[in-house]
Amino acid sequence: MAYQNLLLEQAESGIYVLTVNRPQALNALNATTLNELAQAVAQVAADAGARVLLVTGAGDKAFVAGADISEMQQLTATQAQAFSEQGMQVMHALEALPLPVIALVQGYALGGGCELALACDWIIASERAVFGQPEVNLGIPPGFGGTQRLARLVGRARALELVTTARQIKAEEALAIGLVIQVVPAAQLRDRGMAVARTIAAKGPVAVRLAKQAVQRGQDLDLANACAYETAAFALAFATTDQQEGMRAFLEKRAAKFSGG
Ligand code: CAA
Repeated sequence: MAYQNLLLEQAESGIYVLTVNRPQALNALNATTLNELAQAVAQVAADAGARVLLVTGAGDKAFVAGADISEMQQLTATQAQAFSEQGMQVMHALEALPLPVIALVQGYALGGGCELALACDWIIASERAVFGQPEVNLGIPPGFGGTQRLARLVGRARALELVTTARQIKAEEALAIGLVIQVVPAAQLRDRGMAVARTIAAKGPVAVRLAKQAVQRGQDLDLANACAYETAAFALAFATTDQQEGMRAFLEKRAAKFSGG
């Protein structure tokens, strides 16, 4: 499918790269781009062979510099509600993909851009990355889930400080507070993302999916129910050929060949 403001490529078997491609506006998310993101996420979800999705932005300067301010300026309150809901749906759909989704952040990830990265399963940043929720500079709070996902990831106090001051932080600080899990030289960002994606793509796909779902769903449950969820996921894996192949391969001292069944 051809997109106006996105590039979606299957870089290698099972490894998709989704690039927000509006560099003239620092990849800002307007309604068209959000629509296309929803379609692209659905396209990846429909491919049973998809194993990993890498999300990034076009150009060196920005991952995504936020929701599109020129489009938001004229919105009425009800239109702003619809715009926020559209963004929320995209972030939820990305988060719900049954495969790991990794943000590769090479520059500004501000506002809706930080929120897009937060909706991915984890973030790898280049040394030049800058994160922030600058919405209060514009007289609005975050609207694509930033208050919630940021607080869940870095804690309430750090999230509140970032959201209420609009302070922008560099990659090293983002690493120190747990917003990103790794910082790499800018020139190595894509290679690092591809290397992680290849590692995951070689594992049992059903097991990877079950593990992602258990971590995600368990976070909204108390520990006993979350562990019960994990037990159900663990048991379900024993109905797969991947479990048989993975254990047989270990005992036969050879690499497993997973089929995803
Ligand atoms: N929306 C629309 N256009 C944007 C944009 C945005 N979020 N961010 C940058 N652009 C545009 C600029 O208007 C400019 O366009 P022109 O060349 O036509 O003038 C172009 O991208 C390049 O930007 P700058 O000239 O500003 O580049 P810079 O290097 O001087 O500054 C920046 C870079 C610090 C990222 C600055 O562009 C900036 O502060 N951008 C806005 C960041 C922001 O406030 N994001 C939050 C938006 S609100 C939001 O996201 C709400 C939500 O939660 C849903």
